[in-house]
Amino acid sequence: MLLLTFEGIDGSGKSTQARLLAEYLRERGQDPLLVREPGGTELSEKIRSVLLEPDVNVHPMAELLLFSAARTQLVAERIRPALEEGRIVLCDRFYDSTTAYQGAGRGVADPAWLQSFHRRVTDGLVPDRTYLVELDAETAQARREEAGTKRDRMEAEATSFYHRVAAAYDTLADEHPHRFRRLDGHRSIDAIHDAIRTDVETLLEEQTGTPFASTGSSDP
Ligand code: ADP
Ligand code: TYD
Repeated sequence: MLLLTFEGIDGSGKSTQARLLAEYLRERGQDPLLVREPGGTELSEKIRSVLLEPDVNVHPMAELLLFSAARTQLVAERIRPALEEGRIVLCDRFYDSTTAYQGAGRGVADPAWLQSFHRRVTDGLVPDRTYLVELDAETAQARREEAGTKRDRMEAEATSFYHRVAAAYDTLADEHPHRFRRLDGHRSIDAIHDAIRTDVETLLEEQTGTPFASTGSSDP
């Protein structure tokens, strides 16, 4: 019934927020589906391994097509069915990542072409809301290093790559003000979560016509 996506550069904090929102919704008696891109189906996870493996040579257009192939499968196999069951779907990255990383980061294709391409890839599915966690590339990198996760192929890119990606997200948010909500990634995890939660409550109230906080199974 609602598709909420989370975007931002690597290390911005979007996965943390997607997870916290899923927990909150569960506490409120909902049964959200939380998925990440690329991934979420057998095929998409296989594509993920290929795409993120550090030493594979991947042509930029092949990269765009593979991320998109993983998305087509995820939408068809999991996201559409969940939405049809009336569930809330939280997706950690969606096609805006392709516009930002492959479109702007790699310079593969122009935004207008990408927009119609994404429509084909997702069979017309557009997120109801996209939360963009904005954080400067240097802080994001420091957080990734602190977290100590192994660098994947995308994360081996130079800071200038991430500047192009961040600029593309900025443009997307300007171009789609109704869909995007910007969140300052320098704020605390709780402050960002509160802002997202308030927005989701409003969206759900608009959809159901009843106050969301009073419909859940747990204490207010
Ligand atoms: P992403 O999914 O955008 O790559 P993560 O959610 O995995 O980012 O967060 C990257 C690291 O930064 C993690 O160690 C996480 O605990 C930390 N982190 C996330 N949000 C914040 C925040 N608002 N302030 C400080 N650290 C954060
Ligand atoms: P992941 O470990 O999920 O990173 P993060 O926690 O930052 O989301 O790795 C996904 C990587 O793939 C990340 O560097 C962004 C990149 N990516 C693209 O380049 N294009 C895409 O369309 C998607 C979905 C991800």
